[in-house]
Amino acid sequence: MTWWKDTIVYEIYPDSFYDSNGDGLGDLNGIREKLPELVRLGVETLWLCPIFSSPMKDGGYDVSDYLKIRRSLGSLEDFDQLVKSLKDNDMRLILDIPLNHTSDQHTWFLESKKSKKNPYRNFYIWKSGRGHAPPNNWISSKVGGSCWAQTKETDDYYLHLYSDWQPDLNWENPEVRQAVTQVLQFWIDRGVDGFRLDVINKIGKEPGLPDVSVDPATNLPEYPEAFFQNHSLSHRYIQELRSRLIGEDLFLIGQTQGITELEAYAYAAPIRKELDSFLQFEPTDYYREKKQSQEAFIMGWKERLFRWQMIDAELAAMIFFGSHDLSRTVSHFGEDRRYWRESSKALALLLLSLRGVPVIYMGEEIGMTNARYRHFSQYQDIRTCLTYQRRVLEGGEPEEKVLRDVWETSRDNARYPMHWSAESHAGFSVVKPKLSPAINYRHVNVARELNDKTSILSFYQRMINLRKVESTLRRGSFKPLECQPGVISFQRLWQGRRLVIEVNLTSREKDRTFFEEGKCLITTHSKHKRQSKLAAYEGRILVIQ
Ligand code: NOJ
Repeated sequence: MTWWKDTIVYEIYPDSFYDSNGDGLGDLNGIREKLPELVRLGVETLWLCPIFSSPMKDGGYDVSDYLKIRRSLGSLEDFDQLVKSLKDNDMRLILDIPLNHTSDQHTWFLESKKSKKNPYRNFYIWKSGRGHAPPNNWISSKVGGSCWAQTKETDDYYLHLYSDWQPDLNWENPEVRQAVTQVLQFWIDRGVDGFRLDVINKIGKEPGLPDVSVDPATNLPEYPEAFFQNHSLSHRYIQELRSRLIGEDLFLIGQTQGITELEAYAYAAPIRKELDSFLQFEPTDYYREKKQSQEAFIMGWKERLFRWQMIDAELAAMIFFGSHDLSRTVSHFGEDRRYWRESSKALALLLLSLRGVPVIYMGEEIGMTNARYRHFSQYQDIRTCLTYQRRVLEGGEPEEKVLRDVWETSRDNARYPMHWSAESHAGFSVVKPKLSPAINYRHVNVARELNDKTSILSFYQRMINLRKVESTLRRGSFKPLECQPGVISFQRLWQGRRLVIEVNLTSREKDRTFFEEGKCLITTHSKHKRQSKLAAYEGRILVIQ
């Protein structure tokens, strides 16, 4: 059995984890200092969001040098020390790396744009325009506007699926594929166990880059995804990349937004020798609508979650509720005020009993909530800034209204500093950090939860331990069970051992519809008063004899 099939991953956004040198930003030594906390929690694999040199316009997903550690995070020596400490604790390391695009400050791009004859010209996708128009009509669904930008050095345009300072690498060019392989090998040789390959399902583009059709109703071009998302060329490139990497038991995860089950199979079935696992966002891209009842929301969520639980037995999906791109788990799927503690625990129980490789996003284990800053000026995420520009400055919508939306969706909800204690700056740094902690940090922090047996943190520890000893939770088959609206219930079965999981994700008491009694392995509520009911946000795991 490959190690990663049994592991529990913890995702860290390094700038916001712990500042060990008092510059207001997290760093690698900070992660090392806090390793005992993670060992105590029980997580086994760290996933670090990009740690490479970067102008940081997109949280590090704009790399200017793949072989250097970003200065604010430390040095290669610090990295080696971190790897050593991880190995000493039997832990693994996964680096998050964007290879679809670089920063426009990467030397490859600085060279490439100099002239048509530059040896790096073909590292990117250049084309001449059509009169004064870009080479084709693709528009970026993520940032809006054309996917092309022109440089003054030549008249040509370069392709960028994201912002214009994130030019796309030209994977058609064998030299690019070679260079990228060398980058990954460099980190493997330094002790890395795997990679989270950012938007890797976009590296292959339709040859000739044809126009997309224009919607006659709006006169706007369709989104061009069909020409670059899950293209057969991406599979070819990933297979080639994998076959060239030298390393034992490497764990390759693809960030593959918008895939179907069939596409997931094509990327991650062992026979394909491409990726080992994948991240898909159908359940997490789902938000509660204004007038939707809790029950209806949870039923919609459950449907999406379950669809990805019942995929082919050969596939191992990554299971996550939060990430550096998403809202905080308890604010999104739970209730972060009245039932903050209960709903955080219920979600922990659910996450750690589903099929797949679970990922806990930093701070989830103490129930960190959305940031809800009072002013737009406190936000830094590029997408939030663009929202402000488009909706408030250009669209004239009231700032207050847009701010309320941002409270739910901004990526800064996940990126603000980790709350370590009730001390100033939430114990994250001795100076004022770039992003403020959330207003509730005196109440929601690690120190407060550490020695409290009833805390969210203690519950995560127990659930993690349970998953480690219960092979059924890690390997068992999955079967949905009948239940009341707002409840999520399913069975896991492994070698004759049957577990039933029941989680009420509403603030109302619910009748149980499962009547076979069993021994309760774990529950979110210390005593469950009535066997036939589930209290608000109560979750249980039963062993059915
Ligand atoms: C996906 C990453 O998760 C996100 O943070 C980033 O902005 C885009 N890819 C572009 O690299």
